[in-house]
Amino acid sequence: MRREEAIVLIGFMGAGKTSVGRELARLTEWPLFDTDDMIAANFGSSVAQVFETRGEEEFREAESRVLTRMPTRRAIVATGGGIVMRAENVSLLKRLGTVVYLEARESTLFERVSSEETRPLLKTDDPRATLSRLLAQRAPLYQAAADFTVHTNELRAPEVAEAIIQHVG
Ligand code: S3P
Repeated sequence: MRREEAIVLIGFMGAGKTSVGRELARLTEWPLFDTDDMIAANFGSSVAQVFETRGEEEFREAESRVLTRMPTRRAIVATGGGIVMRAENVSLLKRLGTVVYLEARESTLFERVSSEETRPLLKTDDPRATLSRLLAQRAPLYQAAADFTVHTNELRAPEVAEAIIQHVG
């Protein structure tokens, strides 16, 4: 890789940020930093538990804190889907490096997340409607924060990682 600034992955839950992050880390041999994992480690509990016991606001503050401690060179950063909800976080992300939006259709995202039980924000009476509402709110924020977008519907994680590397080159 010619460019050495960090690659930062943003996008909705189920966009593949963690799995693409792992692929990128493998291909670049740069370390992967995952904001959700770092927050969980800081609190000594899962993200779902942090949401339950401390609430979303405190979780968002923790996201800001971990972003301020991220390296800005030779690193892959995978973020939580709601990180763009705070304007402060968007500026921190942009300062870290190249921001890539992993985009996918609503139906694809729903398919990917509905097999998992780990997303506290989707534990509602109508998860599909919740996903749709959150996505409508956030899609413009992802777009505005990103340097470029990768459409991931038809791609597997290694292909998305390759596309990013080609683009960043
Ligand atoms: C969230 C997404 C999750 C995690 C938390 C909140 C969100 O990360 O940060 O449950 O607000 O969309 P993933 O996008 O990795 O699932």
